[in-house]
Amino acid sequence: MSGKTRENTARRLWGGAWGPLTVTGFLLFLGLLLYGIYFYPQSARSYGFNVNYHRAMFGSTLEQPIPFSHRLHVTDKEIDCFYCHSYAERSLNAGLPSVDKCLGCHDYIIPKHEEILKLKAYKKSGQPLPWVRVYYNPDHVFFPHYRHLAKELECQRCHGEVEQADRLHQVTFYMGFCIDCHQEMSASLECVACHQ
Ligand code: HEC
Ligand code: HEC
Ligand code: HEC
Ligand code: HEC
Ligand code: HEC
Repeated sequence: MSGKTRENTARRLWGGAWGPLTVTGFLLFLGLLLYGIYFYPQSARSYGFNVNYHRAMFGSTLEQPIPFSHRLHVTDKEIDCFYCHSYAERSLNAGLPSVDKCLGCHDYIIPKHEEILKLKAYKKSGQPLPWVRVYYNPDHVFFPHYRHLAKELECQRCHGEVEQADRLHQVTFYMGFCIDCHQEMSASLECVACHQ
């Protein structure tokens, strides 16, 4: 083999500056960069309550049918969580208040307010309010509120400072969020407890 053919083989392998190996290296670098920017913060969010709250406050804002303020109703007007989310202690879901419950007050309080007129239109049409889900678990996850409230866990432990917020922001619970506390409080770690 002459020196010339050896050089040609090498060139075929590397293909010059933008040869396949260089491209692979570049793609790997790009992949790591994307992971660092987009995916690492997502997976980091499963650990620790504080991280979750942070995301809860700075996550994407939701467009709700009526702009409802927890801060106004809970902190200023001192309405209890259970008055509106009546089922939390007794069932799987905490439940959302019906239009009738809102109107129980708003037939008398600011009844001519633009947003309250919207409420009345929903009442008239007989439709439930199309609230957009804020706290979210995929369908394969089983979460019983009542089991947690029986252990006297406060709403804020999982939902953050709801009573300080004028608008809630979309939140997903990652598995690490559940597991961390289950470990800490010696609750079930079996897969079938949460995946049924
Ligand atoms: C006057 C009624 C009212 C009171 C009192 C109230 N809420 Fe709500 N809550 C609502 C309504 C209406 C929604 C749906 C609109 C929204 O998401 O902002 C909601 C939504 C929520 C959600 C998100 C539900 C979802 O879609 O995932 C949580 C969590 C929540 N409330 C917790 C609380 C806690 C904790 C308290 C007490 C500190 C409280 N709420 C007090 C009416 C109320
Ligand atoms: C226990 C009584 C009570 C209930 C139940 C209640 N509210 Fe209110 N709401 C109030 C009071 C008090 C105010 C303050 C009125 C004022 O500004 O004078 C208010 C204010 C509002 C406002 C106006 C806020 C603003 O920015 O001006 C909206 C909108 C509203 N409530 C929506 C709702 C909805 C939707 C529900 C049902 C999920 C609901 N309220 C349930 C007592 C209640
Ligand atoms: C141990 C954590 C935890 C605690 C404590 C907790 N929640 Fe939740 N909450 C969740 C999870 C997880 C979801 C999402 C459930 C799903 O998607 O199946 C949720 C969903 C909700 C929803 C959405 C609608 C529904 O019916 O599920 C409301 C409203 C709510 N919680 C209110 C409350 C209130 C009020 C309290 C306190 C009385 C409370 N939560 C305490 C974890 C918790
Ligand atoms: C802040 C602590 C905490 C967090 C966060 C938490 N849990 Fe729990 N969970 C508990 C405790 C404590 C129990 C035990 C209740 C009992 O023994 O009755 C429990 C019990 C359960 C049970 C019943 C288990 C059984 O023995 O049958 C299920 C299911 C469950 N949790 C699912 C979840 C899911 C899903 C999440 C996350 C979305 C979650 N939990 C987040 C503390 C927590
Ligand atoms: C305390 C509750 C809990 C326990 C115990 C638990 N999981 Fe999960 N798991 C969750 C929640 C909540 C999610 C949904 C959030 C997410 O995707 O991270 C989930 C998601 C998953 C997913 C889907 C991930 C995805 O990307 O969609 C798999 C797979 C899974 N769990 C496997 C397991 C296995 C295997 C075990 C037993 C070793 C287990 N889980 C135990 C709460 C639990």
